[in-house]
Amino acid sequence: MVNILCIGAGYVGGPTMAMIAKHCPEHRIIVVDISAKRIAQWNSEKLPIYEPGLFEVVQEVRGRNLFFSTDVAVGIAEADIIFVSINTPTKTYGEGAGRGTDLQYWEQVARAILSNSQKRNVIVVEKSTLPVRAAAAMARILNSEKNGVHFEVISNPEFLAEGTAIKDLTNPDRILIGGRSNQSGQKACDTLADLYAHWVPREKILLTNVWSSELSKLFANAMLAQRISSINSITALCEKTGADISEVSQAIGMDKRIGSHFLEASVGFGGSCFRKDIRHLAYLCEHYDLPEVSQYWDSVVSLNDYQINRFFKNILASQFNTLANKKMAILGFAFKPDTGDTRDTPALPICQKLLAEQASISITDPQALANARLELADIEGDIHYEEDPYKAAEGAHSLLLITHWQEYRELDYQRIFDAMIKPAFVFDGRNFLDHQHLFEIGFNVFPLGKPILSHLQ
Ligand code: NAD
Ligand code: UGA
Repeated sequence: MVNILCIGAGYVGGPTMAMIAKHCPEHRIIVVDISAKRIAQWNSEKLPIYEPGLFEVVQEVRGRNLFFSTDVAVGIAEADIIFVSINTPTKTYGEGAGRGTDLQYWEQVARAILSNSQKRNVIVVEKSTLPVRAAAAMARILNSEKNGVHFEVISNPEFLAEGTAIKDLTNPDRILIGGRSNQSGQKACDTLADLYAHWVPREKILLTNVWSSELSKLFANAMLAQRISSINSITALCEKTGADISEVSQAIGMDKRIGSHFLEASVGFGGSCFRKDIRHLAYLCEHYDLPEVSQYWDSVVSLNDYQINRFFKNILASQFNTLANKKMAILGFAFKPDTGDTRDTPALPICQKLLAEQASISITDPQALANARLELADIEGDIHYEEDPYKAAEGAHSLLLITHWQEYRELDYQRIFDAMIKPAFVFDGRNFLDHQHLFEIGFNVFPLGKPILSHLQ
């Protein structure tokens, strides 16, 4: 039996440890966090995150070989393997503000491990997404004292996406493990590979050097985001020329060399990682005196900001350049469906821009209303939160679809139209609704990268 500890009970730490616990019943796994509230939620019937299928897995293993605790020191003392899955935010101050990683939490964890470890050999696994060479920095801290513990730091980035975490963890495209090439490094990588091999085929477990592993994680996210910015840039051109982005996306995606994934046009990508990781990648390039490479990746984020702004400007322009006292119903606040996560959601800047125009906003979302309240807590304006999408739309001038929850496709749009102010508008930030049907009901429909369907002259 191996004692496994995970520091950080968030969107990654919770689900990944639940999955390891499920497939490795002989091992004991403890997940610790400095947030007592989060740990209490993990120990309750209402988990701190909404993720399809997660509760069932947690129910199966919690109290059997998976435990949630706030006692970080005791957890470290007993652990043979320590996953570090804390948040790695962008620095907001000093050198590299807005671009580099804020490494203070990472260093705090390293020092806590150093002070509390009691086993002879401890493997520290970098699960968080960090800039290249962070594992080496942690190893230097851990090996700075002769306390009789041998630490081996390896990189094992996580590739799960929210909303599909359980599916992704059950059947990952690959497991990436980066370690040092010496005997101790390879042994640590093999130990971790054996853990994953309980359910992941060996050929999907990829062993690399530490820095390749760290860089691959940053670069994977940058590549995914780049595809979205690329397709979103073409929505602007489609709107000018009359081409249809769905047709263009399908046509290019059928080329096997391009592939069809991540070509869905949107109001802009969101989530806690794309912007952050691209910023970190660009900053890394700047640090290594590669300004052209840095600017190239920065442009992926700039294009995303442009797309969000473009969506807002279309709303303003099409409603006679005034939104004052008009009610805007926001369908979806989460950064994507099947999650309650609102970190870096495009809904936030859109709501801010609408409120700056003195519009009234009425937000609905099946899972993200609590987080929406937190995001907008410090912002003044006429803001309403409605569980019921029909109530959110009552008396509204416009519907803004920001998150493509499946249930929004199934709403009774005739009923919604009847209760709205006319002329009624729909701005579909995901090209998700049946535009022709909405137009036939009487809506003026503004999709992305497609011809507008308007009853107005
Ligand atoms: P999160 O904010 O949901 O969770 C991080 C947790 O770490 C928080 O609960 C926080 O209280 C805790 N924490 C911070 N400092 C601590 C300390 N010193 N001791 C104990 N606990 C501490 O973050 P997340 O979304 O799970 O992301 C974690 C890492 O994984 C990030 O580096 C992120 O880039 C990466 N990642 C995230 C996802 C995702 O889908 N969210 C996917 C892949 C990788
Ligand atoms: C993303 C990656 O997909 C994961 O592999 C990675 O582990 C994770 O980031 C991370 O490091 O945090 P996630 O942010 O959870 O996962 O969700 P995605 O499905 O990638 O969506 C990100 C954003 O892009 C969402 O706002 C989504 O709506 C948007 N998107 C996605 C599009 O606009 N178009 C698409 O075609 C796909």
